[in-house]
Amino acid sequence: MNGASIPASPLPISARAPGKCIVFGEHAVVHGRPELVLAIDLTTQVIARAGEVPRLEGDADAARAHPYLAEALRRLWPEGSEPLEWTTVSRIPRAAGLGSSAAFTAAVATALLAARGGADRSILAEQSFAIERGAQGVGSPGDTSASVAGGLVAVNGGEGPPLWELHAGDQRWLVRRVRDPGWVWLVAYSGVPRSTADAVRSVGRRLAEPDGPKLLDAFEEVARQGIEAVQREERTETGRWMNENQRLLREVGVSHPRLETLLDALGPSVEGAKLTGAGAGGSIVALPKPGREVEAQRRIERAGGRPFVVRAAPQGAALVLAPP
Ligand code: MEV
Repeated sequence: MNGASIPASPLPISARAPGKCIVFGEHAVVHGRPELVLAIDLTTQVIARAGEVPRLEGDADAARAHPYLAEALRRLWPEGSEPLEWTTVSRIPRAAGLGSSAAFTAAVATALLAARGGADRSILAEQSFAIERGAQGVGSPGDTSASVAGGLVAVNGGEGPPLWELHAGDQRWLVRRVRDPGWVWLVAYSGVPRSTADAVRSVGRRLAEPDGPKLLDAFEEVARQGIEAVQREERTETGRWMNENQRLLREVGVSHPRLETLLDALGPSVEGAKLTGAGAGGSIVALPKPGREVEAQRRIERAGGRPFVVRAAPQGAALVLAPP
């Protein structure tokens, strides 16, 4: 039910996984509410070779200190296994809300599972989530699921075929495939880096206030309506729900003046726009009006942002044949 599995492969191994942008429902998804995530066609590629000691980009200290690599090795590469030297190439800006850690995690987990004899894709999704959550301490499986599955996925929402179900503590998330309407999206990095874990914890405190449950219900309603609009391929409606989602994200305190500047700069070139990912810096996502993609991109550049015109990544995490 969940796509091709990861085949066994000898070392050296190369694997690639896409980044993501969240179209609806970030933060609320951590509390079990619906989310829509788009895997974007900006990817991270890793190469693993047998070496004398574990290294990342030639550096042994960097391999030990990298929280996601260290957690992946702890889970998937038993003590005493051959040391691995890793190199990476990424087009995804780091700490920008565009899924650089999910893509790195999914690519590393793909390589390790392939080296261990291959695995079903749902195992890759489970392991990638466990690694990201282990390294971050908080979070939902939305980001890693999009990197593993590619295309568009809904978490705890939508009506498409189920891909996998994941758990942490008493929270449960069912991930479903959503058919890609083939739209062109614009994501733009504000240049302000942020920490996902800090933003998730600060929203958690805000949602623990007396009006928290009402706010979570409002997030849920917006994401449900937004996911339906995408499934019906209604662009104007989708944009309207993105704007509404941004209003709620502002209310829970994760917007940022630089993000608001970028959102304002888009003006009438888009159907709607919002921050994407943890917020408090990071990036925005917009759905440009048809034919106005270049205008939206220029507006962002003039406002000092770093725009990327993206589509759904057609493929999730995968081995890259014949590593260099
Ligand atoms: C971060 O990309 C999305 C958050 O909802 C955290 C998570 O779901 O893990 C803020």
